[in-house]
Amino acid sequence: MFDLAKIRDDFPILSRKVHGQPLVYFDNAATSQKPIAVINSITDYYDRYNSNVHRGVHTLSGEATDAYEGARAQIGRWFGITDPGEVILLRGATEALNLVANTIAGELKRGDVILVGETEHHANIVPWQQLESRLGVTVVPVPVDSTGMLDLKAAKTLCEKHPVAVIAIGHVSNAIGALNDVEGFIALAKENSAYSVIDGAQAAPHMLVNVKNLQADFYAVSAHKCCGPTGIGVLFGRRELLERLPPWQGGGDMIDRVSFSGTTYNELPWKFEAGTPNIADTIGFSAALRYLESIDFAAAIAHENRVHEYLIDSMLNRNTVDVLGNPERWVSVCSFNVKGSHPTDVGTLLDQLGVAVRTGHHCAMPTMEYFGLPGTVRASIAFYNSIEEVDRFLDALDRVTGMLSS
Ligand code: ALA
Repeated sequence: MFDLAKIRDDFPILSRKVHGQPLVYFDNAATSQKPIAVINSITDYYDRYNSNVHRGVHTLSGEATDAYEGARAQIGRWFGITDPGEVILLRGATEALNLVANTIAGELKRGDVILVGETEHHANIVPWQQLESRLGVTVVPVPVDSTGMLDLKAAKTLCEKHPVAVIAIGHVSNAIGALNDVEGFIALAKENSAYSVIDGAQAAPHMLVNVKNLQADFYAVSAHKCCGPTGIGVLFGRRELLERLPPWQGGGDMIDRVSFSGTTYNELPWKFEAGTPNIADTIGFSAALRYLESIDFAAAIAHENRVHEYLIDSMLNRNTVDVLGNPERWVSVCSFNVKGSHPTDVGTLLDQLGVAVRTGHHCAMPTMEYFGLPGTVRASIAFYNSIEEVDRFLDALDRVTGMLSS
């Protein structure tokens, strides 16, 4: 049984006040809050065994290495990956997507087409665009439909017309919350011998993702949206691809032997992890996943979906707002505008009433361009939010709407 009051007690920040009002934190798509177990795991590392990994014969280094590599194994298991060589620890989904674009660059040829979802976060657009002038490849958007879903049929037509070498798609769009048909896009990539690259940053916090079963070539996740710390994330890649691809950054740990007569590289996963890694936050990421396991993640997500559905139904029934999209499969997000008002004004006034939302283009300018908007207000739900908080948000929104129209 999912005990919401108990869960909320695990997140110290949820009981704070903002401008004298109890906080309603609806900016979970930007970053999630962290349970005390995660905060303690990081403090514990610095308190007791702070040391560098893979480099020392002393006890502390051994303990740090065990904790770091244990965390990698645990992060892999959560996502259905048992081979630690397929779990590359990086700064986040953004770095993961940059790594993929820069290393598969060597396999692309002039004239190749890279299909990128029209609703992608900039992290899954710009690294591909940076290859255009360098390699003579072209980035072509996979159109979004009016509900906010990426159009698989249109992508199939694009594959018939162009030599598509990469299909890079968000599992869930961050600006709308549409759960895309990634299985369909991965199958399409396979049929066309193209790489499939999935940005899972907005999916992983809201569903159990089995990367093995999905069979994507690459899948990127950020810890900070999954109750983990900022500055750490993971790239899952298929072993045979990662072995074939060159390292991206050079430095310590990623080498086997360095000599001016020739340098050889370490094995997976360290080949892609140059320099001292983010040890503390990797341990924190693993603690976050252990926490999600301990609370019965499936039950937590069932609760979150009920809260999200309640939010969406309430917003769709309000004639003072326009909600962005209406996807068949909708996760966490409600992006909207108050009719006749600028999103920044709405967000600023909501903050005065204790409600935290994100406003603007949400690092997804092409999505805003498609819908002809300068930006939106985005409320995004996590499993620790409640129906009562949605009611407080709606009440605050009605007050703000009244203030802006008077
Ligand atoms: N990518 C984050 C968001 O969607 C920051 O807000």
